[in-house]
Amino acid sequence: MTAILGLSAYYHDSAACLLVDGRIVAAAQEERFTRKKHDAEFPAHAARYCLEAGGLTAFRLDHVAFYDKPLVKFERLFETYLEYAPRGFASFRKAMPLWITDRLWMSERIAKQLGFSGRILFSDHHESHAASAFYPSPYEEAAVLTMDGVGEWATSSLGMGRGNRLEMQAELKFPHSIGLLYSAFTYFCGFKVNSGEYKLMGLAPYGEPKYARAIREKLVHVCEDGSIRLDMDYFDFADRLTMTGEGFERLFGGPARAPESKLTQREMDLARSIQDVTEEIVLKMARHVRKTTGARYLCMAGGVALNCVANGRLLEAGIFDDIWIQPAAGDAGGAVGAALSIWHRHLGMPRESAEKRGTWRLGKKKEEEKEREISSNEREAGGGETLRAGVSACVADLPPYEDGMSGAFLGPSYPSTQIQDWLESRHYPYRTVHPAALPGEVAKLLADGKVVGLLQGRMEFGPRALGGRSILGDPRSPAMQSVMNLKIKFRESFRPFAPSVLREEAAKWFTFEGDSPYMLLCADVVPGKRRAMTAEENLLWGIEKLNVPRSSIPAVTHVDYSARLQTVRRETNPVYHAILSSFQERTGCPVVVNTSFNVRGEPIVCTPEDAYRCFMRTAMDALVLENHVLLRDGQPVFAESEDWRKTFTLD
Ligand SMILES: [Fe+2]
Repeated sequence: MTAILGLSAYYHDSAACLLVDGRIVAAAQEERFTRKKHDAEFPAHAARYCLEAGGLTAFRLDHVAFYDKPLVKFERLFETYLEYAPRGFASFRKAMPLWITDRLWMSERIAKQLGFSGRILFSDHHESHAASAFYPSPYEEAAVLTMDGVGEWATSSLGMGRGNRLEMQAELKFPHSIGLLYSAFTYFCGFKVNSGEYKLMGLAPYGEPKYARAIREKLVHVCEDGSIRLDMDYFDFADRLTMTGEGFERLFGGPARAPESKLTQREMDLARSIQDVTEEIVLKMARHVRKTTGARYLCMAGGVALNCVANGRLLEAGIFDDIWIQPAAGDAGGAVGAALSIWHRHLGMPRESAEKRGTWRLGKKKEEEKEREISSNEREAGGGETLRAGVSACVADLPPYEDGMSGAFLGPSYPSTQIQDWLESRHYPYRTVHPAALPGEVAKLLADGKVVGLLQGRMEFGPRALGGRSILGDPRSPAMQSVMNLKIKFRESFRPFAPSVLREEAAKWFTFEGDSPYMLLCADVVPGKRRAMTAEENLLWGIEKLNVPRSSIPAVTHVDYSARLQTVRRETNPVYHAILSSFQERTGCPVVVNTSFNVRGEPIVCTPEDAYRCFMRTAMDALVLENHVLLRDGQPVFAESEDWRKTFTLD
């Protein structure tokens, strides 16, 4: 047996991942255990969980892999400082103590923290992202594109994966970064860099792209191959402690929006403009990758790959036959990539993709398109009947789908009996339901307009809740979006919720063919489910559009009819699939609202205790902990206490 622990830390979203004989058996972000959102400290809790999940101690590990190269990163900081000196002294001085006392001694620190005496291996930041994208993907052969803020020097990279080989072919270097460009606008619009990018993306449909031309002319030169060059006179991230400065203010008519202040049409237009430019860059990069590699499939990772609107456009553009995106596309996923790099690249171990095993293939429509393409080629060559018959024979209604991420359900789970003991010890009123009856119970609550917190199975790895730690609601209700935003999530009300839909029903509700298991692709609600706008409603502007129902599932339909889609398969997530099926039987609708189980500013819940606390801090109506159902009515008055998080912790 070979056990490899992958780690990512010290930037944002620290994480650990355990690989046993090449299989990802556990992965989790540190924030879920420490309850500090985007926790960047050494992932001691996550590592301990991974080892426990694998039944191992650090002593039994064969290798430990870290997701980037601190020395090279330090070199970049130092060289950037020299280039901008003396202007960059403040940011340099701020960063230095941490590097000198801590980060430059990473091997020693990791060894000490883990109690591991072997050699620690370091992977390039973008190679970790690339490995996290290609190796778990279903494809035998695929191009790889990574895009983020910055790693050591690289900000984007492209490569090609074949079997167990992964070769990086080109990269774009700091400071020219699509991720930092997007983050500069995140900052300027008053959101937090490295976490508010999602909010900016959600704001874009309310705006017009009126600044896109200024962005293209002044801020960024976009080449035909998708490479970019930023005009650094406008950006402060290389040499100051902020992202943007006076140049931005002059160009966009005033200072940056103060966080938490009222959103204006300017921010909406800026959001739409930078979203359009980002999509242009991503599409050009993808076309270049397709041209240089000739690959049919594309794998992606890096923070920019979390932009599901751009991902949806990319899929729709048909540049590649299919794309697969690492669910933990940000730096947490680097832990997965670092571990997989050791297994396949350092140790040279073989890889068997789902495509090769026959447990993945394209959807029916795409297979038919491919068949037509092959047929016409074959006709030109004077043959093809046999081949056509062969392709048709393998077309099924729901083609198999499998990747190496196990639906991202790689975190801790809690047995029903353990939860019951805890509920008894706390004297919380609950009802235990037979597992077979649970989906029906949840579906009834949802159909009755209740908001339900669901904790079942293993916790998700990556930023999205996928039915393991989710808050659910009825998407048909016009009031559900504002109820869930204001009473449950305590957040800005402009952000849309995401729908989970039965995979087999998805095409009837969304303009989407295929799998989107990780909620990383946007698609539109089909025209037949949309609601026509009245002349009066069409005149609404910006955020006024929010309260106008757009479809028969208004709670998950954005103002431009788009939705951030999760398709659910029985084989990946049986309980969640059964809940959706039951809801469909009851209502005719195979879609539910799925939002992450947390409140604003808090990481997604991990343990049943976290879930109960979140349940009681909000106006949620019901809580489902495995097969135990708790209703709000009858729960004792909730008091926060110091010893709250004890029963389910790793200590
Ligand atoms: Fe990254």
